[in-house]
Amino acid sequence: MSLELCHMALRQTLDLIGLTDDTLRGFSRRKFNSDDLYNDVLGKLLGGKGRRGPAAIFIASERPDCSCCTGRLFHLREGQLVERSEPISIDATSSFAITLVKVEGEREVVPVNWKDISGSVEEFQNFFDPRVVDAMEDAIVNFVSCRISGESPGVIVAFNYAGGATEYDADVLRSAAVVIGSLLTVSSFMQETERAFVYTIEALARACEAAEPDTGRHVVRVNKYAGALAANMGFNSSFVEEISTSAQMHDVGKIRIPPSILLKQGPLTHKEMQLMRQHPAFGLEILGESPRLKVARDIAISHHENWDGSGYPKRLKGERIPVAGRIVRVADVYDALRSRRSYKGPLTHQEALEIFRHGDDRINPEGHFDPAVLAAFFKIEHMFDAIYDSSVLKLAPPP
Ligand SMILES: [Fe+2]
Ligand SMILES: [Fe+2]
Repeated sequence: MSLELCHMALRQTLDLIGLTDDTLRGFSRRKFNSDDLYNDVLGKLLGGKGRRGPAAIFIASERPDCSCCTGRLFHLREGQLVERSEPISIDATSSFAITLVKVEGEREVVPVNWKDISGSVEEFQNFFDPRVVDAMEDAIVNFVSCRISGESPGVIVAFNYAGGATEYDADVLRSAAVVIGSLLTVSSFMQETERAFVYTIEALARACEAAEPDTGRHVVRVNKYAGALAANMGFNSSFVEEISTSAQMHDVGKIRIPPSILLKQGPLTHKEMQLMRQHPAFGLEILGESPRLKVARDIAISHHENWDGSGYPKRLKGERIPVAGRIVRVADVYDALRSRRSYKGPLTHQEALEIFRHGDDRINPEGHFDPAVLAAFFKIEHMFDAIYDSSVLKLAPPP
């Protein structure tokens, strides 16, 4: 390897470490997406300015029984993976698999140029699945193929390095494959943890609502309304996703309120009301300190605060109320209006809408709701109706 190539290899390896670090830090903030990872590691590392990289990359994941690999071909342009092909499945027993998929274990990654194994470029094409050849912009003249090992095994094949594929290209691709393999493994563990987390909070939310008539369906609907409001207000997808999972925790503190109060028919005494009004603070305590539950805590403590400062428990006003709480306030009130309560029957969507427009003896829209959330509500009120409608039990009409 020439000195110049060694320097380039060192620089690209250092960049790879930097990218790995950034990606790992990003895991907690964004939902992991393998296309983002491929773009970061393969796009920036191999195709960035002044880099030596291939013209196209085929990335495939292996079926658990190793019978086939399914992947897509990406073209590389200025550090970006662009124009991916449709998914291509390659049978591990086909002859194409010998060069494209079956890279044995952790063995040497070898660069192959057409002259090494063929009499002509045309003949060289026969080594590859025709769908891969078709998806290429030019005829394949060289490639480096490398296995991805770990929890999500697969293969990366890089095609058409300018001036021929070298040992240096093989080294860089191998480093990239190791990093991708490790990050995919971390990601699959994180997704498993995330699923367990979501399951746990769903179970907790259902348990808290168990004393109320509409049980789990109310919290599921509040999640949906809150997600729709946040999306309409232009919040980024990670906040929308966060609020769509956390809104259901709004009444988690009610688990500490005796059922005799929760289910009481008729008005509560002053003392009972005092206790009931502590459910936001109880919720905050139950949700603890985990950074992962920050939005859930914001919602639990602030979903009864009013925009004009007349709510509880802290009488917060305006933007001092966490935005997630202001969004859930609207979602929760709408659902309460549509649902049967001990003191009232269920309202239709139009009746609920009227109250959101003009208020009633309990609700003062201008005083209680953030105007931006209220404006978003009026823009998407038909979605609220559809969400409510799709989740309530339909009773058969009387005979
Ligand atoms: Fe509440
Ligand atoms: Fe609620």
